[in-house]
Amino acid sequence: MHIKSLRLFFGLPLPHRQAAAIDVWRNGLALDGRLVARHNLHLTLAFLGSQPVERLGELQRLAGQVRGQGFELRLDRLEVSRHGLVSLGTSQPPEALLQLAGELNDTLRAAGYSLEERTFWPHLTLARQCRKHPAPGSPPDFAWTAERFVLFHSTSDEQGTVYHPLFHWPLAVPRP
Ligand code: 2AM
Repeated sequence: MHIKSLRLFFGLPLPHRQAAAIDVWRNGLALDGRLVARHNLHLTLAFLGSQPVERLGELQRLAGQVRGQGFELRLDRLEVSRHGLVSLGTSQPPEALLQLAGELNDTLRAAGYSLEERTFWPHLTLARQCRKHPAPGSPPDFAWTAERFVLFHSTSDEQGTVYHPLFHWPLAVPRP
């Protein structure tokens, strides 16, 4: 089979420990919607949608131009949208995160990619299509240092959706 297009997005991966801790904490919410698989938990920085395979080289070059700084990300808010999306957010988005998403989106737009027009909303989706409100429980407090960003390729079949990391770029972490 010859693959012509890929569903792509840039995002921040989670360290395994934080993904496992979030997964355990999420069980306490008794969510009734479609849970994002633990290995797929991430924060989206820029959503590209379906792109021709030939664009991968250009996307690598464009992402390589982005000079991001590392930052500590603290997810301390449980957010529930009107459409049943349950996510983790942050009460204090780090400046370096906003700059990274802004620079990445600007660079891609300048190269002709059409991206989400809405203001960047840093969030980690836990579940979609929830109808019940999450069960009350301990407030979230998960933190880690973001040291790289990733181009993900999303595939879906009857086994489910998988976000495959294709390439990653380091974020400069200041030495103490
Ligand atoms: P969500 O978590 O808010 O649903 C992979 O599909 C990632 O890309 C998900 O994190 C998803 O965001 C995001 N995504 C999917 N469709 C999108 C769209 N049309 N615009 C922006 N982000 C999208």
